[in-house]
Amino acid sequence: MKTQSLIPAETYHESMGQLLVLYTQVDRLIMEICAERIASAPDEDARLSLAKQVGDESRHVAIQRRWMAQFGTDTTPVISPEQEEMIRQHFRELPWLEFLADMYLCVEALGSEAVENIVPLADPGTRESLNVPLSDEQDHIAFGVSRLRQELATLPIAQRETFLASIPARIDRLTDAFHGLGLDVAHLFENVGADYLALCDAVLQRRDEVLNQVAA
Ligand SMILES: [Fe+2]
Ligand SMILES: [Fe+2]
Repeated sequence: MKTQSLIPAETYHESMGQLLVLYTQVDRLIMEICAERIASAPDEDARLSLAKQVGDESRHVAIQRRWMAQFGTDTTPVISPEQEEMIRQHFRELPWLEFLADMYLCVEALGSEAVENIVPLADPGTRESLNVPLSDEQDHIAFGVSRLRQELATLPIAQRETFLASIPARIDRLTDAFHGLGLDVAHLFENVGADYLALCDAVLQRRDEVLNQVAA
């Protein structure tokens, strides 16, 4: 980990800007993906939760865009249109249970964990901009976890166990795909003062926590 005072202000600013662009882009993608899911969601409860999430993510995008304009960051997308389409396609094709696992355990829970680890290192304006989004993400994760538990409870035990056992590999595949996007996230995180290995450990710990919650 670099001591933050040793990181040139310009390096911090540029890297935090890129992380903000990434977070905003992911939120917009989640908004679109969840909006597409509403019609095919299995019941009214799920449709309402997805619709609420679409509204939340839209608000996050607006908050982040406002903050990025003030922060003065380069807002060129870091995920290409082709990569965005690949991500949309991945979620589009998932059955409901797999959708819940990938969206809420992986993208929402692990993504939030990474962002939460950045908050204490961030400048006051960035920190403030993350308040509302990160608090809403907790709602989204809670929905995903409770909905997965509910769905799994209806399955025969063997099927439930097989599904639970498959989740870590699903998370690994998505994580590999994320790294395959070619963003140098390790560098970006280090440049805002994070200890990247410690951050990866925190993410793995969060993964185990959510897996335990789903399996409990
Ligand atoms: Fe969000
Ligand atoms: Fe979210």
